[in-house]
Amino acid sequence: MCGIVGYIGRKQAAPILLDGLSKLEYRGYDSAGMAIYDGTQINIEKSTGRLKVLSELTHDGSTMPGTVGIGHTRWATHGEPSDKNAHPHFNEARSIAVVHNGIIENYMKLKNKLINRGYHFISDTDTEVVAHLLDYYYKKTDGNIIDTITKVMHRVEGSYALGIIFAEHPDKVYALRKDSPLIVGRSDEGNLIASDVPAVLKYTRDVYFIENEEIAVLSEDAIEFFNSDGEPIEKESKTIEWDINAAEKGGYEHFMLKEMYEQPKTVRDTLTPRIKDGKIVIEELGMSEEEIRAINRIHIVACGSAYHTGVTAKYIMEGLARIPVEVDLASEFRYRNPILNKGDLVVIISQSGETADSLAALREAKAQGITTLGIVNVVGSSIAREADRVMYTWAGPEIAVATTKAYSAQLIAHYLLAIYFAQVKGMVTDEEVSEMLTDLKAIPAQIEMLLANKEHIQKIANRYVGAKDVFFIGRGIDYAIGMEGSLKLKEISYVHSEAYAAGELKHGTISLIEEGTLVTAIVTQKELYKKTMSNIVEVRSRGAVVLAVTNEDNTEIEKTADYVIYIPQTNKYFTNSLAIIPLQLFAYYVSVGKGCDVDKPRNLAKSVTVE
Ligand code: G6P
Repeated sequence: MCGIVGYIGRKQAAPILLDGLSKLEYRGYDSAGMAIYDGTQINIEKSTGRLKVLSELTHDGSTMPGTVGIGHTRWATHGEPSDKNAHPHFNEARSIAVVHNGIIENYMKLKNKLINRGYHFISDTDTEVVAHLLDYYYKKTDGNIIDTITKVMHRVEGSYALGIIFAEHPDKVYALRKDSPLIVGRSDEGNLIASDVPAVLKYTRDVYFIENEEIAVLSEDAIEFFNSDGEPIEKESKTIEWDINAAEKGGYEHFMLKEMYEQPKTVRDTLTPRIKDGKIVIEELGMSEEEIRAINRIHIVACGSAYHTGVTAKYIMEGLARIPVEVDLASEFRYRNPILNKGDLVVIISQSGETADSLAALREAKAQGITTLGIVNVVGSSIAREADRVMYTWAGPEIAVATTKAYSAQLIAHYLLAIYFAQVKGMVTDEEVSEMLTDLKAIPAQIEMLLANKEHIQKIANRYVGAKDVFFIGRGIDYAIGMEGSLKLKEISYVHSEAYAAGELKHGTISLIEEGTLVTAIVTQKELYKKTMSNIVEVRSRGAVVLAVTNEDNTEIEKTADYVIYIPQTNKYFTNSLAIIPLQLFAYYVSVGKGCDVDKPRNLAKSVTVE
């Protein structure tokens, strides 16, 4: 999704904006641009393509003098990716420049009104409406900017994080947001705005999180905040604890590879603070034992890979704590008028904490008076702030669009929650808890072992670089693992792939199997071995080549499968944490083999802030 940055200070703005935008590349984009005030006027440079193109166009920013500016990476929603649709956008007099992340839903209505008032539009974007609307109110309020901004705020519907500069007020950068992320960084070298923390980390760890319908006004050495009525408000800054290296590639060829290698640490960091004296304690839940015992039903709501961890969690929570669990895609949940009852718990899972549908689902649950728990990675994100309770996954910044370490951390959070609830409800004995803890603590080292096997997987992957279709099959938790394995492959390598519950194959899917089609079978649930084995035999007899991911004691499988990857012994509920590693590596190497842009796959965004 689009990324915005802004800077005002004593240094030249352009290189700082370019650097900030490079830290937001992970969000996904198709064009980029900057608007900088040069002492006399605002200049805009923008172009389709990667940031490299904008850097070349401006000679790394050197052709754009000035110490005040805004920048943008665009992920097209309204209007195709093109130079004219790239941000920033001007008003007609080129005295107001705007960058925007989000969607102005009533832009057509506003555009028609502005056209009737004599405004001319250059682009096909919803954003240009904001530039003209600012112009309209700026004139109407005799140049009162806060009044202008609040008026615009009340007229536009939808989501936005906006960065604005006015040629007539070149000593300020203005920013506001609703439902799209926005932070302000304060530094001795000047002040910054950005869609996300990594863009400012090089300059400061002092950050303000802007809330919905708040306005920030940055000058060289001051930052003021206003509410939607234009009244000044006080805000407290937060110190970001992340290490800047966490947002850099650190010698790895891709962020995805680096993040896969960070999984042992991520698992450890998410696990360790919640184990005390041989028991699981999740203090941040803030729920009494009675409240936990009174939970009737859990609704897990999420998007993408986070949803897949929810599918796994259903099996575990129901298996261990015997609490019924429903898992929903957030985009479905929010519009299906879900039946939520007193005593239900809604769990929203999100790496970014900003996914528009997940945030809307959270608000829907809260509006119905249901307790909400966010399992979130980005500290201080919208979901983290709005959920009644937050359980953080300590994965640190994740940059590659395809999630790996945040996914692994989410799984751990689910295991902890399920064991904790089972513990409180008396569904597991102390001995069982202690055995599970031993298995959990072993996971980081086991992941390391699996990562060390990367060359074996690379060899298999190289054979499938030209694959047309790949299928993933499994039962129970293995089906959930397959869903994630399939998503990883298709999103970064553009190989068509599908995950099926193995028992469902005969109801249509098996007709897709041709001579040489790769079927990845996940076989980690002992009680389901035989059932999935029959499905493997069925697809093989129709010409499929089978890659099996199974437990190390299931060597029998070598007689049937073409390739076998073994995962070390663990509790049956935790196998996802191990089986997913070879599948991540497989997807990674197919993508590398095809020469795809591994970290920034086409059309995708890391943080989907529009619905
Ligand atoms: C995007 C990302 C996925 C992620 C999904 C949900 O599609 O590419 O990796 O799983 O959004 O994002 P969230 O930040 O809510 O976990």
